[in-house]
Amino acid sequence: MRTVRNCDVTNKKVLVRVDFNVPIEGGTVTDNTRIRASVPTLEYLLERGARLACISHLGRPKGKVVDAYRMDPVALELSRLLNRKVVKLDDCVGDAVKEAVTFAGPGTVLLLENVRFHPGEEKNDPAFAAELARGFDLFVNDAFGAAHRAHASTEGVTHYLPSYAGFLLEKEVSVLSELLNAPRRPFAAIIGGAKVSDKIEVITNLLQRVDLMLLGGGMANTFLMAKGIDVGRSLAEPDKVGLAREILARHSQVVLPVDCVVAPSLDADKEARVVAAHQVPPEFMILDIGPETVKMFADRLRRAGTVFWNGPMGVFEKDAFAMGTYGVAQAVAGLEARTVVGGGDSIAALQQSGLSDRIWHISTGGGASLEFLEGKVLPGIARLEDEQS
Ligand code: 3PG
Repeated sequence: MRTVRNCDVTNKKVLVRVDFNVPIEGGTVTDNTRIRASVPTLEYLLERGARLACISHLGRPKGKVVDAYRMDPVALELSRLLNRKVVKLDDCVGDAVKEAVTFAGPGTVLLLENVRFHPGEEKNDPAFAAELARGFDLFVNDAFGAAHRAHASTEGVTHYLPSYAGFLLEKEVSVLSELLNAPRRPFAAIIGGAKVSDKIEVITNLLQRVDLMLLGGGMANTFLMAKGIDVGRSLAEPDKVGLAREILARHSQVVLPVDCVVAPSLDADKEARVVAAHQVPPEFMILDIGPETVKMFADRLRRAGTVFWNGPMGVFEKDAFAMGTYGVAQAVAGLEARTVVGGGDSIAALQQSGLSDRIWHISTGGGASLEFLEGKVLPGIARLEDEQS
């Protein structure tokens, strides 16, 4: 992959695609992880005298200007992290932008307005991509989190500018490629989340590569059904039971919960109790993995050389059903293995337990890391690998 190390950026006008799609409440960024993750690339470019314009999407405004999705709070946070002035512009294309880029001195950071305010972005409209590129000398893509989108600011623009990967994108690709191609063994995956259908491709691809796969969350219910277990009123996908049965028959490394936390409904926390996985009362639903399962998962992980974790083990937004996810976070953080975590809920559980810095690599890409591990070629990355045309 061509990276920023392979180009001379001095005095160059550089368009940097970042993923600053961060949570904002009351005009303040509440989690700056993604912004911090791109700081090394931005500092590297600034130290070498580049003139930077950063561009990102924020939320899903669907091609229209939506004030709640303006980049102003991000500009404030970026300025704080870089400890320098960041000039936020009110659009990402047009003469005013080109003028600002031309007259910005070296060391200046411009932050362009949300690129998804323009319909051409998600359509990957070539005319819009060419307009994004106009006035710049180089394109740097550091937006791993958006690399699975073939949009104008991730893929389209690479047709109009010499394009390079930033350090964050490079690191994500190198870590996730190691998982796929040369993991330290034993390699264990922990996959959670609500539905089998959302994760089936990543499960199938990883099963060719892992020595152990621990399943939790709502999706495990479908696998329990495949073993003939009655899961009561639990969330499950009956149309995926056949597939789950096939997976269990073919892959003995899949491990399911042995006990679970159940309640009559999501709101009936007070009636929550722990039961064996094969003894779910008919009027109850599984809402978390149980303590025996957490212990078993932790034991099974102890020898692992590599661990990948994506997805919560239960309805972790509710305290009564959060112990499984926190227990797994604790177990993963305590390992010597190369631990890689992706996905909003798993990362939030680690952050809330103060364990994030004990993880080898926390991926900034939710959908992007999953698609990468499904074995897909991500459009935002492919163009940085190919000979450019
Ligand atoms: C993410 O949050 O996963 C990325 O920023 C991509 O956002 P999107 O799912 O709205 O394309």
